[in-house]
Formats: sequence, structure tokens, C-alpha cells
Amino acid sequence: AEQGRLKGKRLLVTAGGTVERIDPVRYLTNDSSGKMGYAIAEAAVRMGAEVTLVSGKASVPVPSGVKLVRVESAADMLEAVLSRLDEQDIVIKAAAVADYRPAEQHEHKIKKSEEALTLTLVKNPDILQQIGERKTHQFVVGFAAETRNIEEFAMDKLRRKRCDLLVANNVAEEGAGFGTDTNVVSVYDAKGLVKALPILDKREVASRLLGLVADRLKKGEAAR
Ligand code: C5P
Repeated sequence: AEQGRLKGKRLLVTAGGTVERIDPVRYLTNDSSGKMGYAIAEAAVRMGAEVTLVSGKASVPVPSGVKLVRVESAADMLEAVLSRLDEQDIVIKAAAVADYRPAEQHEHKIKKSEEALTLTLVKNPDILQQIGERKTHQFVVGFAAETRNIEEFAMDKLRRKRCDLLVANNVAEEGAGFGTDTNVVSVYDAKGLVKALPILDKREVASRLLGLVADRLKKGEAAR
């Protein structure tokens, strides 16, 4: 039944963790496996969308049928997403973007010394926020990993970043978050809770989420 529900739609999904270089052989990153975003890309292909997968570091195979754009840092991801924004109908930001990066990227390997080494971190751009500022017609879905006050933080994020839908997961909960095969998410829109899903395989979360997106696009088109 889900087949063809996103036919003719161009969908861009970001996935994985960004890698922030310290020097040529060292970097900062996070625990993201890419599973949630890759599952979304795979489900979107199955539903007939034209899919661009912008991926940072991930540990799962690339689904077939996607246009893969590999990136390293948040800055790379920002460029990859913004340069492709105009042509998208749907943008889903499942990537775990590093909030900070080293203030300088050393061209050569840092030599050790007897001194302590201080790493200064500067704030990374918020990609989702920039999409929210620039979007024209795109349907935008954000993610939020929280450990408390889920609804409050989710609604605040949705409004600040101007998402159409926000998928919140409680990463403190068993079977949710980074690295796991399952996820426990609640989906919000500007009016509040849309759906609280039980613990499900990330592939099932992906197809239900895209089902919600397809419903909303259909309603939007009917209203036009
Ligand atoms: O603010 P927070 O990191 O919790 O927001 C999560 C959402 O914002 C995710 O969709 C994530 O991909 C996106 N994000 C981003 N750029 C950042 C930080 C988060 O696009 N620098």
C-alpha cells in the first residue's frame, strides 16, 4: 500500500555523525550509527521518491537507489544541503551534527610535548535552522534527541527551527537512540503531539514517519 506514495517527490535526508577535524589524523565525532537516516532513505526509495542521502560517518550499508553525497564536517554538510535545497520537496534532518568544532584545523599532525594541550571549540552552524530560514515550499522534518522534558524541548525546537514535523526520541529510554536497531519516537507538529509510536525497528519507524509526511503533502496539495 505504501508503494508509490512519494512518487515524483524529491527527498533529501541527512544521516550519520559529522566528523570535526583536529589535525590530519585526529577528529571529534559522536556515536551516531546512521541507522535511522539510512532507514528513512531506504523507505523513501521504496515509496517512489527520488532520494539524496547526505551522509556523515555511518556504520551501515548504503541503501540501493539513492544518490549518495558523502560529507565530513558540519560545514561540509551545510554546503551539501543548501546547494541542493531548491530542488527538494522534502528535507529530513536525521544527522547527528556536531554542535562544536575545533577552532583550528592543524595542517600537520600535532606534536606531543610535556605541556597540557588545550583544544578550543567554536560553535558549528545549525543546518536545520538555516533550512528553516531559507525554505520556500519544502516540507521539513527535524529530529531531537532528548533525555527529559521531551514535549517542551521538542515544541521549542520545532518552532525555533521552523520544522513542519519534529521527531523526538528519548535517548535515555531502553531501545531508543544511537546505535540501536530500534527507536521510540514521538512526532510533533506546530499544534503539538501528532503520534507517539511504540518501540519499533528503525525501518518501521522510517516507513511510518514517511507515511505521515505523505499524508500531509497530500492534504497540502488538496488545499491548493
Ligand atoms: O538542537 P539539536 O541538536 O537538538 O537539534 C536537532 C536537530 O537539528 C536535528 O534534526 C539535527 O540534524 C539538526 N541540527 C543541525 N545542525 C546542527 C545541530 C543540529 O542541522 N548544528
